[in-house]
Amino acid sequence: MDKTSTYTLNNGYNVPVVGFGTIIPDGEQTVSAVKDAIKSGYRLIDTAEIYGNEVSVGQGIREAMVENNLKREDILVSTKAWHSHRGYEKTTVAFNESLQKLGLDYVDIYLIHWPANAKWHDDWRELNADTWRALEDLYKVGKIKAIGVSNFLAHHLKALIEDSEIKPMINQIEYHPGFAQTEAAEYAQSQNIQVEAWSPFGGPGSNVLKDATVNEIAKKYGKQPSQVILHWLIQKNIIPLTKSTSINHMRDNLDDFDFELTGSEMNAIDKSPYSGGFQFDPDTAKS
Ligand SMILES: NC(=O)c1ccc[n+]([C@@H]2O[C@H](COP(=O)([O-])OP(=O)(O)OC[C@H]3O[C@@H](n4cnc5c(N)ncnc54)[C@H](OP(=O)(O)O)[C@@H]3O)[C@@H](O)[C@H]2O)c1
Repeated sequence: MDKTSTYTLNNGYNVPVVGFGTIIPDGEQTVSAVKDAIKSGYRLIDTAEIYGNEVSVGQGIREAMVENNLKREDILVSTKAWHSHRGYEKTTVAFNESLQKLGLDYVDIYLIHWPANAKWHDDWRELNADTWRALEDLYKVGKIKAIGVSNFLAHHLKALIEDSEIKPMINQIEYHPGFAQTEAAEYAQSQNIQVEAWSPFGGPGSNVLKDATVNEIAKKYGKQPSQVILHWLIQKNIIPLTKSTSINHMRDNLDDFDFELTGSEMNAIDKSPYSGGFQFDPDTAKS
């Protein structure tokens, strides 16, 4: 496996084994980070309407395509419907707005950003299914190549699978040392749904990269702690979505494929002490 490797989703669509996240302030910072990321070798770019930077992400992608002689189909673009746009009609409108902002005529991956939950919605199940129908219809007409969800716990995903025609292809969840969502990830994988990890380094200001076990293993292999974390995820067949505005970090995060963690090292990282996570619990978050 190397940085050009892909996984095949349950609909046959191929997605890169690593992706680039774009929670970056809108404007020139996002444009240049996306261009640097594509130049460094990233081929999966993750954004969301709530990040407020789809216009800049689209601009960065278009400029990078010209500068690196790439075709549209060489780059996968992923975006998400926010919870204020749940339901069939609102989601359809939100999708078309995202498409327009990105300046594209299709997106590769479109996700429901958060599940409606039972704490705030008596009809949470119907609401998620109704939102999902919009994704299914947009998928059927070719506006989206692969549809999925984000922040769905196992019971949200199980309900959606039971209530819908097309099974999700992706679940994007928070996953990092000290916050391994094993149950959600293993349930998705048991259903042949690809898992993506958001905040693989715990997000900005986190101590995840200082985790003692990760650092001990990094020392042994002469690698960066970040590279050990990425390997831990890749060896679980989880796609890490790393964000960086530093070109050196971007390159480091794509350059970690020439070593392998042992089973006991994988288990040791699984047991890292809680490092933060679930600032918003999908079961209780007001949304
Ligand atoms: N679906 C959801 O609800 C959801 C929620 C949150 C995030 N996401 C997605 O997941 C992506 C990643 O998560 P995130 O933005 O929270 O951050 P992250 O990938 O966990 O990164 C956290 C910080 O680590 C630093 N970093 C990156 N590579 C490094 C390296 N090799 N060595 C040392 N430091 C490094 C970055 O700072 P520098 O810029 O200084 O490198 C970054 O600010 C997001 O951008 C977004 O696309 C999705």
